[in-house]
Amino acid sequence: MTQRKITIAIDGFSSSGKSTLARDLAEALNYTYLDSGAMYRAVTLYCINHHIDVNDATQVEAALPHINLHIPPALSKTFAIHLNDRDVTDLIRSMEVSAVVSEIAAISAVRAFLVAQQQAAGKYGGIVMDGRDIGTVVFPNAELKIFVESDIETRIDRRHQELIKKGNTTSRLEVKQNLLHRDNIDSTREDSPLLKAKDAHTINNTNLTRAQQLQAAIDLVESVT
Ligand code: DC
Repeated sequence: MTQRKITIAIDGFSSSGKSTLARDLAEALNYTYLDSGAMYRAVTLYCINHHIDVNDATQVEAALPHINLHIPPALSKTFAIHLNDRDVTDLIRSMEVSAVVSEIAAISAVRAFLVAQQQAAGKYGGIVMDGRDIGTVVFPNAELKIFVESDIETRIDRRHQELIKKGNTTSRLEVKQNLLHRDNIDSTREDSPLLKAKDAHTINNTNLTRAQQLQAAIDLVESVT
């Protein structure tokens, strides 16, 4: 494996498997892993807890100076996020947060607030970051950009199984509705919509195992380093 530490941007729709790939890749390369979606979720959790109307951009923007996010340096397996000194890694995965996070992520002030922090975290390379705009906005000069795709039924099944494992009783239909809702907002919003960067490589993992998906990404890393 190469010694040169590069920046790797991984984008894709919700539950496409991009976070799994990003974590596995960061671990294989001994890189930092950053789940940018977790930051949008933490801002969302703050707004829910403080009864801030997520559809009122002015109210949300006014809350931003009170939001301190911290991602302790750690390996990909132990990724955690703290919101005002409280570990919220599990709390941000609730359906309550998922239901409105796309509304929060469509607010330009929120994006500017988080993109600056994401760029600072990736300043020295050696990072795998996943999200929706990593290859297009956060790191337009990333040495490697991967766009992860998966068919919609597979994405619904994955997300549903993930929730069941956590003891959540959300129905498959609710999961489907939430994914379609987020796909729609994430790809049609005005600021930084989810787009495949022109120079991104696509990995469609519908028929790939986790190990095969990782190998496809490692092959790409080797082709650019
Ligand atoms: O990856 P995720 O499902 O945890 O992301 C949560 C939401 O945050 C998703 O609806 C889109 C948004 N998001 C974004 O707009 N830009 C990013 N870089 C990452 C996530």
